[in-house]
Amino acid sequence: MKLRAAITGVGGYVPDYILTNAELESMVDTSDEWIFTRTGIRERRILKEPGKGSSDMVVKAMDELFAQTGLKPEEIDLLICATVTADMIFPDTANTICDKIGAVNAFGYDINAACSGFLYALHTGSKFIESGTYKKVVVAGVDKMSSILDYTDRATCVIFGDGAGVVLLEPDTQGFGIVDAVLRADGSGRQYLHMKAGGSIKPPTLETVLAREHYVYQEGKTVFKYAVKGMVDTVQQVLERNGLTTEDIRWLVPHQANKRIISSVGDSLGIPEDRVMVNIEKYGNTTAGTLPLCLWDYRDQLQPGDWVVLTAFGGGFTWGAILIKWKG
Ligand code: UT7
Repeated sequence: MKLRAAITGVGGYVPDYILTNAELESMVDTSDEWIFTRTGIRERRILKEPGKGSSDMVVKAMDELFAQTGLKPEEIDLLICATVTADMIFPDTANTICDKIGAVNAFGYDINAACSGFLYALHTGSKFIESGTYKKVVVAGVDKMSSILDYTDRATCVIFGDGAGVVLLEPDTQGFGIVDAVLRADGSGRQYLHMKAGGSIKPPTLETVLAREHYVYQEGKTVFKYAVKGMVDTVQQVLERNGLTTEDIRWLVPHQANKRIISSVGDSLGIPEDRVMVNIEKYGNTTAGTLPLCLWDYRDQLQPGDWVVLTAFGGGFTWGAILIKWKG
């Protein structure tokens, strides 16, 4: 059978500090009722320790992956890290992670595709396995969104949280693994979701800091509309071209940006709630972290042979869907 990349282990990590809706009520003009009914979020995790960044959350998730799979750091060939909150502008976070976990034989790089970052990284990683180039590829999705949030802006600060998830990809020839991907991008969407300063167009200055331009800027209503359509379209495409229908799908794994978006996507596709992974209530939107954290939370319910579809939409715009026959 065809050589495919199968997910053979899942690790996750969320920081201990819980930022509740009640605490946010004391920070900005909001309410638990507004946040929960408009987004489905009750609480999110925040990485508070000074000097800790995205790489440190991935290192914790990797500890779990090592324990679960017996993988040794020196066996890793490649580590791809999806993030918009790299430890530093450069070098990339993947290489820092490799150093911190002792992956001395690996190389790695970051992928910045915002909320679709894990999809992009998973697709890329799977190709290195399918081509026979590598045997052990780690794909991480992580964001420390608290480092780029304006905690005086109620429209964004209530939505996001911090967290990391990792998966191990290994070759499979028994019919399991990543079967297909439909990935899309439309850079004209950047006007609706971005960070205004800190890049090469507008490097940091005292003025950009005072103007609060180093934070997430989002026009939520517009993004919402595109998000539902983008995820529904790509899930339908990936199913159709593989001769499947939504009936065949055991688990829809949607990006966790808003419970109302998740419900709209599930309803449009005709996939009932008990086949849709949801954990936004506990973590909020962890950007590149949401998809692997869903797999992590639901790992005991995933069965070998399950058809699983991951889908996401986010900054860029970027979006897409990946079809997996779960190996477990
Ligand atoms: O992950 C990357 C992709 N991102 C997404 O997919 C996010 C997509 N967008 C969304 O999830 C939603 O648009 C939000 C959750 C961001 C906002 O929900 P909304 O229902 O679209 O609200 P809105 O922005 O239209 O605001 C409605 C009202 C406004 O007040 P007025 O103008 O009607 O008086 C806002 O000022 O709600 C107000 N509002 C709030 N009120 C209390 C906005 N944020 C808050 C808040 N607490 N935290």
